Amino acid sequence: MNERKVQPVRTWFTTAWWGNILPRNLMGILLGILVGGLVACSDGGSMIGFGDGKVLSTPSGASIVRRHDPEQVRQGEAVYRRHCATCHGERAQGAPDWRRRDADGFYPPPPLDGSGHAWHHPKAFLQERIRNGSPPGEGRMPAWGERLREDEIEAVIEWFQSLWPDPVYAAWYDREQRFLE
Ligand code: HEC
Repeated sequence: MNERKVQPVRTWFTTAWWGNILPRNLMGILLGILVGGLVACSDGGSMIGFGDGKVLSTPSGASIVRRHDPEQVRQGEAVYRRHCATCHGERAQGAPDWRRRDADGFYPPPPLDGSGHAWHHPKAFLQERIRNGSPPGEGRMPAWGERLREDEIEAVIEWFQSLWPDPVYAAWYDREQRFLE
């Protein structure tokens, strides 16, 4: 990719009088350092394959790359603001007393920001709960399966997961792997 930029340097190297003295393979090494340096400076992250991801250790000792697609996160936040924030809170913080059934015997909306227990659940459970709503007698969450597309459900999960602190996300990841096994 840097071939065009590098070309004049190579020409200058070889035509300079000392270009004949320096062994060609040494020039190759020098050029390699130059080009490598440019690539490393401009695009350091992806050189080692992590992109904009963050490397985390999970409780089971696995090393994972945490990455949330920004486009999907934006889409998910829009879905959340439109359909979920009225119950789960502006910042997905949930109702203050979400652990206790209310006077009618229903659970209030729990936090989705990582401070509740959503992270105990595998993704398939979260999808299922969003599609079908609260089980009878549990809460008053409506079913979204008819109203949201699958990619919107996927995006809203991606959004609230992006709020989870690293240790919470790492703990969820381990559980998810155990569930998928
Ligand atoms: C009318 C209020 C209401 C709305 C609107 C609502 N929820 Fe809920 N949600 C609840 C309640 C109450 C619960 C707790 C009972 C249960 O788990 O069904 C809950 C539970 C959940 C859970 C399970 C969390 C856990 O820790 O087990 C998820 C995930 C969830 N909601 C996501 C969403 C998403 C995403 C939206 C928007 C598309 C949404 N909710 C909209 C009331 C609501």
